[in-house]
Amino acid sequence: MIPDLRYLDEQGHQAFPAIVAGLYADKGMPSFAGDLSLEQVEAIHQYLIKRSGDLRRELQSAP
Ligand code: HEM
Repeated sequence: MIPDLRYLDEQGHQAFPAIVAGLYADKGMPSFAGDLSLEQVEAIHQYLIKRSGDLRRELQSAP
């Protein structure tokens, strides 16, 4: 199972760079340390925040 990151909680957002750098490597989440720059990780994070907002709006406008 791979989590849907649009539902990431506040703690997950706080830990985002650390998680991508290998914090949960022992749980099956690969480390991208050395492959992604901090700027790239930040860009992915901002994209997820946008997608999370899109989802929230979609759910609110559902009949
Ligand atoms: C750039 C790509 C990726 C990003 C930004 C990312 C980010 C994250 C984040 C933030 C979490 C924590 C979710 C939470 O706390 O609810 C997570 C968990 C996880 N990710 Fe990724 N991930 C990426 C790619 C991948 C890939 C390619 C795999 C598998 C091949 C993977 C497997 C997992 C798994 C199994 C977990 C759950 C770990 C647990 O049990 O706590 N991720 N990921």
